[in-house]
Amino acid sequence: MAARKAGNGHALGIDLSEPQRERARRDAAAEGIANIAFERGDAQVHPFDGPGFDVVISRGGVMFFADLVAAFEHLREAMAPGGRLAFVGPQPGDAGNAYARATAALTPYLREPSPAARGMGSLLAPERITDVLTAAGFRDIEISPVNADMGFGADARDATDFVFSMAPIRHTLRSVDADVLAGLRDQVRDALGEFETPLGVRIPGGVWVVTAGR
Ligand SMILES: C[S@@+](CC[C@H](N)C(=O)[O-])C[C@H]1O[C@@H](n2cnc3c(N)ncnc32)[C@H](O)[C@@H]1O
Repeated sequence: MAARKAGNGHALGIDLSEPQRERARRDAAAEGIANIAFERGDAQVHPFDGPGFDVVISRGGVMFFADLVAAFEHLREAMAPGGRLAFVGPQPGDAGNAYARATAALTPYLREPSPAARGMGSLLAPERITDVLTAAGFRDIEISPVNADMGFGADARDATDFVFSMAPIRHTLRSVDADVLAGLRDQVRDALGEFETPLGVRIPGGVWVVTAGR
């Protein structure tokens, strides 16, 4: 999508994961998109060469940075003067939201602070996003809510596998007995049934779209 928007320009895709990179490369090749390269690397410290990027985009990646301010500073330095940043990240879920309802059986096992607070959930509050980006030197920060369904899987069974594969959930449940775990899987699968649609399991959710200038 970035390469298409770039027109005569060029895009670089970067991800820590080799399977993600390979998948992206295959998809771009299949669609005949030539003005993009994909590299495997850590965006927090990757040596971005060249004159500087006009735009830095992330869909659901930046909240995993270990040192948020240092990583965003590094990205800002990789941008051209006048460059723009845009990323998507999760909003905080409230206790009654659809995802909480679907996974209610797991609630008694959740410990605080959640391990997700150091990854997926590290940039939930708009004030925190603003503080981090300001400390990293960004300005004109705008944060807008966008509501969208999240695809969890083909059906309730597939979606249950996905829920139980997520690292914070696996970590939380790592010492739960196998028979208790099997019961929890059944309860979550039943609850996910509510969200089965012809397009798969779709759970309503919300994200922030964040933009800022260099
Ligand atoms: C929720 S996935 C989103 C993947 C993809 N952007 C998309 O929209 O489908 C988060 C991705 O961030 C990548 N990631 C996490 N930390 C990273 C880092 N420091 N540098 C590069 N990629 C990172 C992970 O490997 C993973 O592919």
